[in-house]
Amino acid sequence: MSKVLIIGSGISGLTCAIECASRGHHVIVVSPFPSERSQSVLAAGGINAVIRDGSGDSIRQHIEDTLKGGCYLAGEKAVTGLCSSAPDIVRWLESLGTVFTRDNTGDISTRSFGGQSYPRTCYAGTATGKQIVTALVMEARRYEGMGLIERRLWTDFYAGLIRDGICYGAMLYSEATGMVEAVTADAVVIATGGQNSLFGKTTGSTQCDGYAAGKLFSQGVELKNLEFIQYHPTSIVTDQKKMLISEAARGEGGRLYYEEDGRRVYFMEDRFGDRGNLMPRDIVSRCIYETGRQVWLDVSFLGRARIMERLPEIYELCIKYRGIDITKESIPVVPSVHFFMGGIAVDLRHRTNIRNLYAIGECASMYHGANRLGGNSLLAAIYSARTAAADIGGTSDGSPDWSGMVREEQIRLNERRKTVSKFPVMYVRGMLSDTVNSSLGIVRNGSTIQSGIEDIDYFLSISDKICYDRSELEYFNYSLAGILNLARAVLTSAGSRCESRGSHIRSDYPDTDDSLKKATVINYDGGKFTTRLVGEDDYEG
Ligand code: FUM
Repeated sequence: MSKVLIIGSGISGLTCAIECASRGHHVIVVSPFPSERSQSVLAAGGINAVIRDGSGDSIRQHIEDTLKGGCYLAGEKAVTGLCSSAPDIVRWLESLGTVFTRDNTGDISTRSFGGQSYPRTCYAGTATGKQIVTALVMEARRYEGMGLIERRLWTDFYAGLIRDGICYGAMLYSEATGMVEAVTADAVVIATGGQNSLFGKTTGSTQCDGYAAGKLFSQGVELKNLEFIQYHPTSIVTDQKKMLISEAARGEGGRLYYEEDGRRVYFMEDRFGDRGNLMPRDIVSRCIYETGRQVWLDVSFLGRARIMERLPEIYELCIKYRGIDITKESIPVVPSVHFFMGGIAVDLRHRTNIRNLYAIGECASMYHGANRLGGNSLLAAIYSARTAAADIGGTSDGSPDWSGMVREEQIRLNERRKTVSKFPVMYVRGMLSDTVNSSLGIVRNGSTIQSGIEDIDYFLSISDKICYDRSELEYFNYSLAGILNLARAVLTSAGSRCESRGSHIRSDYPDTDDSLKKATVINYDGGKFTTRLVGEDDYEG
C-alpha cells in the first residue's frame, strides 16, 4: 500500500483518488475549495467516446480526428491509448450514476462537436462536468467511509518536497491556520488544472492559476508545449468573466455570422461548407479574428422546444447575464482563452522528470498537440488519472528531514504579514494579465512576445521587493513569484516556436514548418529558461 498525495480535487484529482483507493492505497486529496467549486463543474459540452458499433464511427477515426485536430503534434501512442479507453470510461461514469442525456432508444445520446467526423460527444445537457463531478464525489465518499481517502479542504499547494530528482511529498499551506506543513508521500499527483488567471478573464476558473506548475518548474520540473493556448470561438463577456457558449450550440446547428450592408454573412459556411461552424477551434477563432468585426451566433431557428431540451443552460446563461433570449435573438460572441494544451511534461505513464511526481488533467501536457478537440478534455482528465494511478505503487525508502525548511518558510510568511502594503500584489497580477494578453493573442509575433518577456523580467526583478498586502489572502502573496516564472516560461516557449501551427499563430512566421513537428520542452536552471524539441511520444523526463 502506498501513501498518495493528490493536489487538486476536480475530475482528474477525484478519479485518481478513486482509482488509487480501489487499489488499496491511502490517499490524501488537498484543495482550496470543495470539488463542487472546481473548474471541472464549468465543463459544459461533453466527453468523446465511440460507444456504439454500427454508426460508421470507429476508435481509429476518433484517433485520426484527435491527431488531425492537434495538427499532428500529439503523439500517436498517447492518443491511441486515450481514444481506445474512451468507451470504457463513459460506461464507467454511467455506472457511477452520471446523468447523461439519453436518446430515444434509452442509450446515451451523442452529438457533433468541432473537428469530429461523427457525432461522438456524450453529454449531460450542457452541464456535463457538473454531472460527472457529482457522480465522482459520491464514489469518493465510499472510499472516505473506508478510511482510504482523506480530504483536506482550504489547503493550498506551497512547494514540492524535492531533493536530488526525487519527490518525497509536498509542503502545504492551510488557509485556516496560516501555517505551512510538510506532508510526505510515496507518490505526489498534481491535478491543479490550467493557467487561467495568467490571462485574467477567461472561460475558466481563476482558481486555476498555474502556481503549482510554476513553482515546480522553479524546483526542476520540466514543462511542455506552453505556447499552445486555446481560444474558444464563442463566449460572452460579462463584468466578471468570459462565459462559455458551449460548442454544443453549434453541434445542434447554431450558425456564426457577421452583418454587412444589412445582410448576414455566414463566413464559416462560405469558407468551409456545411461543416464550417464546426471546424476545430483554432480555425474558427482565427476566422473570427480575421473578420475584424462583431460576430453573432444564431440558434433561434432551432425553435424554443429544441433549445429548451438540448441547450437549456445556454438559454439561462444568456438571459441571466446578458438579457438575451436565444429563442428569438442572436448572441454576440467573442473568442476567449479557454484551455491550455501545454503544461507539466509527462511521459506515457504521466510521470514527470522528477521521480514519484505525476501530473494529470489539464495541468499536464500530452494528448492535444497544437489544438484540443472539444469533448476530449474530460476524457483526458479521466484517462490521465487512471494511467497515473495504474503506475503508482511501492513505498519510498524514507524521506529527508524537512522540519528546517518548514520552519524557514513559516518565518518568511510571518515576516510578510508584518509588512504594510505599498505595492499590492493584485496590481502586479493585473499588469501581468495585461502583458500576457497583449503578447499572446490569437495572433502573436516575435516583437509582442519579446516585449512581454521584458515586462515579466521586470516584475520578476522586483517581486522580492514588493510589499505584500496584509489584507489579502496570503496565498496570493506567496504564489506571485511562481506565477511570474510560469508566465515567463510560456512567453519563452512561444518565442522559440518560429512557425504557425494550430493555436500558435505567428504573423512573422505564418507557415507550418514540418521540421518543427515536435514538442517544446522548457526547463529552468539557475534562472535560465532553456527550450528543446522532443518527439511527443518520446518524452522521458
Ligand atoms: O464548448 C464546450 O462545451 C467546451 C467543451 C470542451 O472544451 O471540451
